[in-house]
Amino acid sequence: MAKNYPHIQTPPPGPNARRIIAQDQRYASPSYIKEYPLVVARGAGPMIEDVDGNRYLDFMAGIAVASTGHAHPAVVSAIESAARKFLHICSTDFYYESFGTLCERLAKLAPGPEPKRVFLTNSGTEANEGAIKLARAHTKRQNIIAFRGAFHGRTMGAISLGSSKVRYRHNFGPLLPGIYHLPYADPYHCQVCREPASCTDSLACAINEAEALFHERLAPDEVAAVFMEPILGEGGYVVPPKAFVQYWRDFCDEHGAVLVFDEVQSGVGRTGHMFASQLLGVAPDVTLLAKGLASGMPLGAIVAKESVMTWERGTHGSTFGGNPVCCAAALATLDLIEGSLMANARSVGAFLMNGVRELQRKHDIIGDIRGAGLMIGVHFVRDRATKEPYHGLVPELEKAAFDRGLLLLGCGRSTIRLAPPLVIDEEDATIALRILDEVIASVRVPA
Ligand SMILES: Cc1ncc(COP(=O)(O)O)c(C=O)c1O
Repeated sequence: MAKNYPHIQTPPPGPNARRIIAQDQRYASPSYIKEYPLVVARGAGPMIEDVDGNRYLDFMAGIAVASTGHAHPAVVSAIESAARKFLHICSTDFYYESFGTLCERLAKLAPGPEPKRVFLTNSGTEANEGAIKLARAHTKRQNIIAFRGAFHGRTMGAISLGSSKVRYRHNFGPLLPGIYHLPYADPYHCQVCREPASCTDSLACAINEAEALFHERLAPDEVAAVFMEPILGEGGYVVPPKAFVQYWRDFCDEHGAVLVFDEVQSGVGRTGHMFASQLLGVAPDVTLLAKGLASGMPLGAIVAKESVMTWERGTHGSTFGGNPVCCAAALATLDLIEGSLMANARSVGAFLMNGVRELQRKHDIIGDIRGAGLMIGVHFVRDRATKEPYHGLVPELEKAAFDRGLLLLGCGRSTIRLAPPLVIDEEDATIALRILDEVIASVRVPA
């Protein structure tokens, strides 16, 4: 059956959208970003309809969250049936079946042979906060290694770990002490070299910086944890070399630190594997999840080796974390992801990746393509020789795509992320590639 999207009947924002935006702009906090004037009325699968009847192909999934597509009937039905029973009782203090079932499921899914335990949160940032406490409590150490370009959320501990954009930290200090930022091994754009274009070994550069830190300023046996996104999310969808991730696995093994993988964006099937750590072949001690875990219902998780999750009774909890309706949504989501969507992310992801590589051959401003499954970054440069990022281009591309009915979102310094719901098919990918081709051709090319 032919798709009934994209379909733009009233150039957005239409009259209904403008009314809602005006109210929002008058009363909502000015801190929100609001990338472009999308005002959602409903969604189904990879389609979003706005309040003026325009239909879009969603290639950002509400920031990589709507993993099973919008309003998947199986997820909605699980939510409805859980909501009819009870909405809340507080998992910190009492029991219910879906909570234990989800903990068991995540514990058994997490990579590595050791038994795991699970703490459920409301969000990705809360999973990171909890993991900071867990690592400190477990090791009785304070210092943490984090990476340049990282994003872990917007609460105080998470912004202390992050270094993707200064505006997340500006005027919010003092932040958490004891956090050391080191370079992430970006194979395309070395974070250490003055002239990244001429660097041929960003892995060696990143590891040299780490070795220097441990030689000059920080004793390895004082490190509580290493917090790493196994694929940088907000930092630009960068996939590091396996050897980089393995270096930190070995470091943690040797020095008794906890290796935490923040898979809030990369987890739950998005890369075509349940966890990006499986793609890289390195198992962490702790995996953090949120975003796609419950298809859009607020839920996150700290999945830790039993030998690491040693904090004592009463030391950590949450009023809402692991809410019964969210647990039901997560269980239905995992059924779908394990059922066919992970495999779909792999096959349609490969198709999309090929298509984007063709676009790269056609458009000089595409410098790098990276990612796995349906987590693909298209990185734009002013000049392939210098690899100078094409600042300012991404908002233009987003707007031009939006006007044509394709929802995109940027990340990093000059990258478009392709993070659609995992339900898309090759026809959806073809539509997105056609629009992407058009909008890249329509924007200014560098002089
Ligand atoms: C890798 C990563 N960690 C943590 C977060 C924060 O998650 P939340 O917005 O649910 O707090 C995000 C959100 O984008 C993320 O991408």
